[in-house]
Amino acid sequence: MLRKEVNELLTQTGPETAMGDLFRNYWIPALLASELSEDDCPPVRVKLLGERLIAFRDSKGRYGLIDEFCAHRGVSLWFGRNEEEGLRCPYHGWKYDYTGQCIDVPSEAEESGFCTKIKLKGYPLIKIGDVLWTHMGDKENRPPEPAWEFATVPAEQTYTSKRWQESNWLQALEGGIDSSHVSWLHSGSLGTDPLFKGAKGNQYNQNDKKPVFEVVESDGGLMIGARRMAENDQYYWRVTPWVMPSFSMVPPRGDHPVHGHFWVPIDDENCWAWSFDYHPTRALTTTERQAMIDGYGVHNQYVPGSFRPLQNKDNDYQMDREAQKRGETFSGVWGIAMQDASLQESMGPIVDRTRENLVSTDNGIIMARHRLRKAVTALRDKGTLPPGRDTAHQMVRSAARVLPADQPFKDAMMEDLTVRPGVKQTSV
Ligand code: FES
Ligand SMILES: [Fe+2]
Repeated sequence: MLRKEVNELLTQTGPETAMGDLFRNYWIPALLASELSEDDCPPVRVKLLGERLIAFRDSKGRYGLIDEFCAHRGVSLWFGRNEEEGLRCPYHGWKYDYTGQCIDVPSEAEESGFCTKIKLKGYPLIKIGDVLWTHMGDKENRPPEPAWEFATVPAEQTYTSKRWQESNWLQALEGGIDSSHVSWLHSGSLGTDPLFKGAKGNQYNQNDKKPVFEVVESDGGLMIGARRMAENDQYYWRVTPWVMPSFSMVPPRGDHPVHGHFWVPIDDENCWAWSFDYHPTRALTTTERQAMIDGYGVHNQYVPGSFRPLQNKDNDYQMDREAQKRGETFSGVWGIAMQDASLQESMGPIVDRTRENLVSTDNGIIMARHRLRKAVTALRDKGTLPPGRDTAHQMVRSAARVLPADQPFKDAMMEDLTVRPGVKQTSV
């Protein structure tokens, strides 16, 4: 349970909010690189942390993320003409470069220097992997560029998608680090989803529905361990790393690619669920990549031409009561990603955490909230930069392993939970 003020503190991310300031201390995913696929392509509307922005790629391939609205009389630059190294407002022709600097006001004499005094807000936009990343905070405190393994392995080893989720970012994150729901909500899909099925770990997941949680702090966030019974009194451990503020990875299964998420606030009632899949040591197979495109695993199908899931609240997520009854899906909703999203959205845009009743399997969530709160108040009150910005904090992996009962995961699995180039994931 959280007090109302704390729930607000952790869920509000607009400009001038404490959590908004925290998010502005990181590089966050802003667009798929494929959304700006060539020089001078159409600009794209982007809303992040409550700010309405426009992304574009200029004639020289430079990426810009600037205020959506023209400084003259507020027209949306989504209507802009992307031409000759800048975005030109179609109303009266004012033109901006990729930093937001105004470079032409046709009605004014050039000698007046008028346009040099006009600058729109502008954020950097850099391409690493399949993602364009932005940092929306002070330039002086800009962290090192993102170094996540999914974004830095060769292109043939990785796949990233994003979907619009109609809920606050925190309830999406809390779903991602809650390993206990897997044995329930996803039980039907473990044996059928092509990106999950066939792993020995699935049996442990299905046989023991009472996982015991052990959570340890890491430099950048948490390592959330969930243990279930295996044979010969051993434990099957699934360990989920969370790096502040909103990166997490799902423990792997067999030799399937490893997956994970970023949850990025659009505004307080919507977020982007970024989902990635990669294999540390081999290319994704054509079948795997096609399954991701088709919406299996952590990915989803779309309303054509949008990032809105095809199954959404307007069609009750295409819930199938018969499939639910037969046990093909536990909740009646198809697909692992939408099983999660449907339930998280069902809580309402911002769940009322004053009314919940947490239990021991919620320990990861409790500790993540605690760390977030500590970091938010330290930044707000003392200017302390938060964890998760350092490259070293990003060198994490999820892992799954069977261990003797007397071996704590935090001793036995530390190497498994670290990025080791050229070494495959530890998985069961
Ligand atoms: S409103 Fe953009 S140029 Fe006038
Ligand atoms: Fe889930």
